[in-house]
Amino acid sequence: YGAAVALARPNLQQHARWYSVSHLTVEERIDQKRRAALVGGGQKRIDAQHKRGKLTARERIELLLDPDSFVEYDMFVEHRCSDFGMEADHNKFPGDSVVTGQGRINGRLVYVFSQDFTVFGGSLSGAHAQKICKIMDQAMLVGAPVIGLNDSGGARIQEGVESLAGYADIFLRNVLASGVVPQISLIMGPCAGGAVYSPALTDFTFMVKDTSYLFITGPDVVKSVTNEDVTQEELGGAKTHTAVSGVAHRAFENDIDALLNLREFFNFLPLSNKDPAPVTECHDPSDRLVPGLDTVVPFESTKAYDMLDIIQGIADEREFFEIMPNYAKNIVVGFARMNGRTVGIVGNQPKVASGCLDINSSVKGARFVRFCDAFNIPLITFVDVPGFLPGTAQEYGGIIRHGAKLLFAFAEATVPKITIITRKAYGGAYDVMSSKHLRGDVNYAWPSAEVAVMGAKGAVQIIFRGKSNQAEAEAEYVEKFANPFPAAVRGFVDDIIQPSTTRKRICRDLEVLASKKQMNPWKKHANIPL
Ligand code: HXC
Repeated sequence: YGAAVALARPNLQQHARWYSVSHLTVEERIDQKRRAALVGGGQKRIDAQHKRGKLTARERIELLLDPDSFVEYDMFVEHRCSDFGMEADHNKFPGDSVVTGQGRINGRLVYVFSQDFTVFGGSLSGAHAQKICKIMDQAMLVGAPVIGLNDSGGARIQEGVESLAGYADIFLRNVLASGVVPQISLIMGPCAGGAVYSPALTDFTFMVKDTSYLFITGPDVVKSVTNEDVTQEELGGAKTHTAVSGVAHRAFENDIDALLNLREFFNFLPLSNKDPAPVTECHDPSDRLVPGLDTVVPFESTKAYDMLDIIQGIADEREFFEIMPNYAKNIVVGFARMNGRTVGIVGNQPKVASGCLDINSSVKGARFVRFCDAFNIPLITFVDVPGFLPGTAQEYGGIIRHGAKLLFAFAEATVPKITIITRKAYGGAYDVMSSKHLRGDVNYAWPSAEVAVMGAKGAVQIIFRGKSNQAEAEAEYVEKFANPFPAAVRGFVDDIIQPSTTRKRICRDLEVLASKKQMNPWKKHANIPL
């Protein structure tokens, strides 16, 4: 093929004019188009982008990927719209409003699209959608993650249904890729209308503070329909989605901070569901004792402590990439490494609402557990949970079906599962939190563990209602249940371990469990309670 091109080349040059509309040779036209693509919507719009503290689509790709690793596709693609004057030359931009291709992050393959706000506000034309679909299809073929850098005014208004069709083509691919290759969305500008559903279908949605927003309808429509006065930031800014709605998983200070964090985050992920999670070189000894853990749980069972102290204590180099740190803070989820291997960590957080499970924490935990299970990432679960949060607000909100999600997620997960009960494991929450009964591979209790149907006070009030010897009964209940033995004598925990040895034990177990293979019964797909 190469020889044929070489032979044809002199001929091409000789007849260059035949291929030319502007008296340029083909080579000159190629060069001209490439140069035009590189400046997107032109210097004025690039300056405007910079003025807002935003980088351009290409600058973002450059920061995200390893130097010189980006291979661009479809630089010559142009929109095909001829309505509203769009056919005019000055309305054609080579590459249209998105930059697509593949490259490397720390040497590992990734497919990227980066919407170019300088071209028609990054709006999605049929051609724009086609470019995104092309890289998504190829990512699926070779088994590599897809990262979308979103900065777009939504559907290309001049194109009408062609644009809507383009969105649907992307949505379908998001769904088909779910659980096959990791998909990450970074919102770096507007993302409105139905366009929000592509990020929502991906595994992780990150945002940039102050410059990005996601909403179904903007403030003007909200005002006209519900008469509410709300700013863009209040309606769909990073704070709203990371702390209130739970739509986004993390927010970063600016474009640079977000892209550098995204590189860090990428290092935790496997390339596809057929690949193991990456193993990095570890300088933190796997048998390191963590003496601080022996005293981290307060003597008084009602006193709070910070679950993050335990998680960071056991993780390689104390590194923990927390997911949704500002949402449903009564549960902590995120990625760490144990002896160089990626693990997903879930922990109840006694510091917030005593670490109880409620609607939001159940959904947060469940989605995280399902991601880890889909992508072969072992799960480490730290349990200190007084139960599910009671009350009408929770019951009316459907805590039963939402709590069931977390139960479902842990039960169906077939990755290595290691559970450590640090203190309370009460009631249904004991079962839910990756218990032995849900196929926990290795379940430990610390000496401070209490496994019971409920706390002593509540239990005694029910079974000794109206009786005078309540104090005595409470003491008996504590004696019987406020310790790890009831679970240990039944084999519901495999061992009672000294907290300081937890890292060492987990690292050793992960080594053993690395070859774990477990299959669920064949099914078309499960029916998780939504
Ligand atoms: C075509 C668009 C556009 C769009 C922006 N532009 N949005 N062109 N289609 N959707 C163009 C503008 O004409 C302008 O062109 C340039 O992009 C920058 O836009 P500005 O308005 O000057 O920028 P700014 O003030 O920053 O406002 C950004 C914006 C606003 C908030 C995104 O442009 C806007 O509200 N756009 C429309 C958003 C919208 O309603 N989209 C449809 C949503 S419904 P020039 O030539 O001046 O640079 C939807 C359905 C999807 O998306 C359904 C999927 C199922």
